[in-house]
Amino acid sequence: MQDVTDLPFMRIIARRGAPDWFVTEYFRVHPDSCLNRYILRSIDENQTGRPVFAQMIGRDLPSLIRSAKELAKHDIAGIDLNLGCPAPIVCRKDAGGGLLRNPETVNHLIGSLREAIPGRFTVKTRVGYHSEDEFPRLLEIFRSHAIDGLSIHGRTVVERYQTPVHPDCVQLAVQTMPCPVIANGNVVDVSTAQSYLAQTGAAGLMIGRGAIRNPWLFSQLQSTFNSTPVFAPTYRDLWEYVLELYDEIARETAKFNPLAHVQRMKKTLAYISHGLEGDFEYDMRRARTPEDFQEICRKHLDHDLPIPARPPVGSKLFCGFEALTPAQRECS
Ligand SMILES: Cc1cc2nc3c(=O)[nH]c(=O)nc-3n(C[C@H](O)[C@H](O)[C@H](O)COP(=O)(O)O)c2cc1C
Repeated sequence: MQDVTDLPFMRIIARRGAPDWFVTEYFRVHPDSCLNRYILRSIDENQTGRPVFAQMIGRDLPSLIRSAKELAKHDIAGIDLNLGCPAPIVCRKDAGGGLLRNPETVNHLIGSLREAIPGRFTVKTRVGYHSEDEFPRLLEIFRSHAIDGLSIHGRTVVERYQTPVHPDCVQLAVQTMPCPVIANGNVVDVSTAQSYLAQTGAAGLMIGRGAIRNPWLFSQLQSTFNSTPVFAPTYRDLWEYVLELYDEIARETAKFNPLAHVQRMKKTLAYISHGLEGDFEYDMRRARTPEDFQEICRKHLDHDLPIPARPPVGSKLFCGFEALTPAQRECS
């Protein structure tokens, strides 16, 4: 995830139970681009023991092929193409999710990249641009090019992050794609993960915001799958994690400025504070100085209560996750 899943983030997550693999933030690719050096560090200096896929975003085929070849000189598990980013500035340029408006361009790009990339080549997509009715045609295209994996954020581009996901689309992909299909979107705890897997039959899960809020989620899932005790983090565990993020990202920041660092940290912290009840989010939005930041964390996180498994229903940054487990929703 842009501006989040960098080298220190991967390191900090891995200490709490790493995922089976990581995917980098996307490398922007265009005729004048060169590989972003900071993102490259999450490949070259990765000591998590877990493989890293390098993700590219762009629409210019010669540039994408050039960048894929440059990336292949690094220790990557494979190349991933982003067909999911909904940011208007990206879609306006017909890159990321914007490409889904033109399936024939997607067909040409994926076919040509598949021919040019000798190693693993995977695709990250949404289920359509305007409507999930577009998904069967997209799947036909993905099927015709021997890609090595398909990760699906189960929303359309216009749904951005605001709706429940469409597990039926992911299930259709599982039933019709010859490669492993990975389900993504709205996994926030063990039960949403189990439910998404059960509803789709996906080979695995990709987890984004839920893992920022709860970096123990990968280990909790591994314990659940292995029927071993599941770690239940407390607010104080969360505090320690936040402080590690603060310090380690600070250490990696060129031209460190304490006030700018607080603003940068608030962007990541939003996925934690919006995931908790109470005033942590309200207070954190007002933090200006490192002292404010530390004091607000201390005020809200310095105790031993367990962190609730899920964000509050109605949270602005976690929308629609409760639809993955309707039975639980009815009980609550
Ligand atoms: C801040 C932010 C940055 C993101 N950056 C990327 C990215 O670089 N590449 C990508 O494939 N998806 C990116 N995404 C989308 C996530 O990978 C994921 O598909 C989406 O958040 C839904 O999954 P989740 O509910 O597990 O977060 C980003 C999402 C957020 C919120």
